[in-house]
Amino acid sequence: MGQPSPALWPLLALLLLLPLALPLPLSRAHCPEPCSCPPDGALRCPGPRAGLTRLSLTYLRIKVIPSQAFKGLNEVIKIEISQSDSLEKIEAKAFDNLLNLSEILIQNTKNLVHIEPGAFLNLPRLKYLSICNTGIQKLPDVTKIFSCEFNFILEICDNLHITTIPGNAFQGMNNESITLKLYGNGFEEIQSHAFNGTTLISLELKGNAHLKKMHHRAFQGATGPNILDISSTKLQALPSYGLESIQTLIATSSYSLKKLPSREKFTNLLDAVLTYPSHCCAFRNLPTKEQNFSFSIFENVSKQCESTARKPNNETLLLHGALSAAHCFS
Ligand SMILES: *[C@@H]1O[C@H](CO)[C@@H](O)[C@H](O)[C@H]1NC(C)=O
Ligand SMILES: *[C@@H]1O[C@H](CO)[C@@H](O)[C@H](O)[C@H]1NC(C)=O
Ligand SMILES: *[C@@H]1O[C@H](CO)[C@@H](O)[C@H](O)[C@H]1NC(C)=O
Ligand SMILES: *[C@@H]1O[C@H](CO)[C@@H](O)[C@H](O)[C@H]1NC(C)=O
Ligand SMILES: *[C@@H]1O[C@H](CO)[C@@H](O)[C@H](O)[C@H]1NC(C)=O
Ligand SMILES: *[C@@H]1O[C@H](CO)[C@@H](O)[C@H](O)[C@H]1NC(C)=O
Repeated sequence: MGQPSPALWPLLALLLLLPLALPLPLSRAHCPEPCSCPPDGALRCPGPRAGLTRLSLTYLRIKVIPSQAFKGLNEVIKIEISQSDSLEKIEAKAFDNLLNLSEILIQNTKNLVHIEPGAFLNLPRLKYLSICNTGIQKLPDVTKIFSCEFNFILEICDNLHITTIPGNAFQGMNNESITLKLYGNGFEEIQSHAFNGTTLISLELKGNAHLKKMHHRAFQGATGPNILDISSTKLQALPSYGLESIQTLIATSSYSLKKLPSREKFTNLLDAVLTYPSHCCAFRNLPTKEQNFSFSIFENVSKQCESTARKPNNETLLLHGALSAAHCFS
């Protein structure tokens, strides 16, 4: 076990330096079996392949994920595609009929501009679909996923070029309940009937810094949401219909939201985290006949609103039963 012979030193030095000499992304590029990942070409991962449950495709130089790219991979549960700047397009039926597939992650693919309608098709076990930090300009079509999983989570985040959530955007995605985590996108507007046909547990719109307008019928045709987070948006108003399911309303750093709809619309509200003291004034002057728990949390607030409304500050307000007095008025 002595020192290596001096004759071997140059060889050792070369072996040590070799990984450093390769460009970093190339060294991490990984085209797993049974896939082929031709540079500037189309990905193919043909099945069947017994025991293959996870596919992680990172730092690839492919351009397209074509129709039926994963055909026959019946056992695959999770597919992750990330850190691939060359990817430009996902074709219709790219993810089609993968009956065990439960998670799809598409992240950090900034040149991915096209996801064709029907790219995600017949995925009954799908539970989690995440599309973040891509170059897409339209909300991806998720309407033919037909998932039957309870609490499906759709995460669409940091897609700066998507400006609109159109009507019926999530129809057909899932027949049970869903959570929509829609953070940090380029949204400016949410249109009428955007959530039609869904059962929404939670709608998280946090950090959509350009979001100004939510159509007053945006929630029409939806059940829920139970939780609504509109923090760090430019929303000036909440929709006037469909607020009755909201139990938790979070609106921190919502500086454009100067006014809330009247409290009669929030029949089930239990918690609210708001930006301005004046927000709580929407809940003043409670008619006595409507004094039940969900309204009475605002009782204490209402009294204090009289004095605080005239001196708005930049403090976040927490309204939650006994907590309200402490946080709202300290
Ligand atoms: C799902 O995967 C299991 C094995 O993990 C396999 O036995 C089953 O056939 C697959 N289901 C379908 C519909 O292919
Ligand atoms: C969703 O679809 C599945 C399969 O068709 C069914 O078993 C389930 O009861 C449906 N759920 C609802 C809430 O309709
Ligand atoms: C809302 O969804 C239902 C089906 O769930 C559909 O029949 C109706 O046309 C939709 N409404 C609008 C205005 O798109
Ligand atoms: C509270 O009162 C409102 C208005 O009367 C009613 O619609 C709502 O169902 C009541 N909520 C509870 C929890 O009793
Ligand atoms: C509160 O602070 C934010 C930045 O943190 C600022 O843009 C906003 O104008 C402030 N609002 C008030 C009422 O001071
Ligand atoms: C209102 O304040 C009183 C006294 O501070 C407290 O006992 C009561 O629980 C509060 N009501 C609600 C609904 O939080």
